[in-house]
Amino acid sequence: MNGAIADRRKTTDLARQVGIDFGAALTVALAYIGDRLGIFRSMASGEPFTSQRLAERTGLNERYIREWASTMAAAGYLEYQAVDKTFRMNPEQSVVLTDQHSVFFSAGSFQYAVACYAQVSKLMNAFERGGGVPFADFGKDIVEGIERLFQAGYETWVAREWIPAVPQLHEQLLRGAAVVEVGCGAGQCIVPLAEAYPLSRFLGCDIDPSSIERATDKASRAGIEGRVRFALVAAEALPVNGFDLAMAFNCIHDMAHPKAALRGIRKALKPGGVMLWSEADASDRLEENIGVRGRTLYGASTMHCMTVSLASGGEGLGVVVGENRMREMALEAGFSDVARLSVKNPYHQILVLRP
Ligand SMILES: C[S@@+](CC[C@H](N)C(=O)[O-])C[C@H]1O[C@@H](n2cnc3c(N)ncnc32)[C@H](O)[C@@H]1O
Repeated sequence: MNGAIADRRKTTDLARQVGIDFGAALTVALAYIGDRLGIFRSMASGEPFTSQRLAERTGLNERYIREWASTMAAAGYLEYQAVDKTFRMNPEQSVVLTDQHSVFFSAGSFQYAVACYAQVSKLMNAFERGGGVPFADFGKDIVEGIERLFQAGYETWVAREWIPAVPQLHEQLLRGAAVVEVGCGAGQCIVPLAEAYPLSRFLGCDIDPSSIERATDKASRAGIEGRVRFALVAAEALPVNGFDLAMAFNCIHDMAHPKAALRGIRKALKPGGVMLWSEADASDRLEENIGVRGRTLYGASTMHCMTVSLASGGEGLGVVVGENRMREMALEAGFSDVARLSVKNPYHQILVLRP
């Protein structure tokens, strides 16, 4: 003991919390299996299944299905009916676990977490020796996990709320404007946005080849490949300029050189152009982020966002940037006008920057 007399109540509470977290960590890994092997999808209609029928429907081993479904029922991810030993998904569980067009859809978080778990030994090396774990090492689960975590939000908010909240911007995009998105990932924002503004032209940039490949494929499946181009290029080295709108959502913090990226984006804007920059809605101050949200953000940062930046010799900004720091960085990058976009959002804080 450290000399202080341990408070029994606090000790019990913390031990209970660790127990909850332990169960949550196991639930996440098993939910990943349910998502990846299509078990949740097989149950999305709400039909009740015995473990035997669910095994037949999915072509999976019954004993594993029974134990898995018991875990999911205990976690509240499925319902269980004792009288006929059936498992089913209620409509809310179906939305959260299977409806990829709902803002409540959360299965991408299982992919994100499992991709991070898989890199723990490399991360420990980085703790000991510095450097980081490169983005590519996290594999396709991280690209797809991020895409699935954020796409429904972008489909719901960007064209309907964020762009209309900037005076004239919606009208400009309706008439036809030039738009660039940096750190576009698998095209989760730019493709639905291009569908919303058929007269505008879009360029998506990212430095990850697998993301660009996935984004290109998404645009071609949407039949808009003529108006949306993708380039494997860093935000700090944008090859063209003259954009009316530049977007950087949830990605500047991942970059090796965030300020250089902001400078590059500013130079790519037309005079009178505008940049929308989003980061997680958190405070600049750790003491204001203590709690459930803070642990998710700092956890994701340590296990992924910060380490990928450090892996390429970067600054390792970390996912928690905060509005004050965002404003400072924007001004240092040469933007002359910085304002918070007046929309409410459960995840993002969005700044509007003008050169
Ligand atoms: C957390 S993901 C965000 C993807 C997407 N914007 C979203 O919000 O869903 C960050 C993305 O930034 C990309 N990235 C990292 N450094 C970059 C840079 N210097 N220039 C352009 N993209 C970069 C990564 O490859 C990754 O696709």
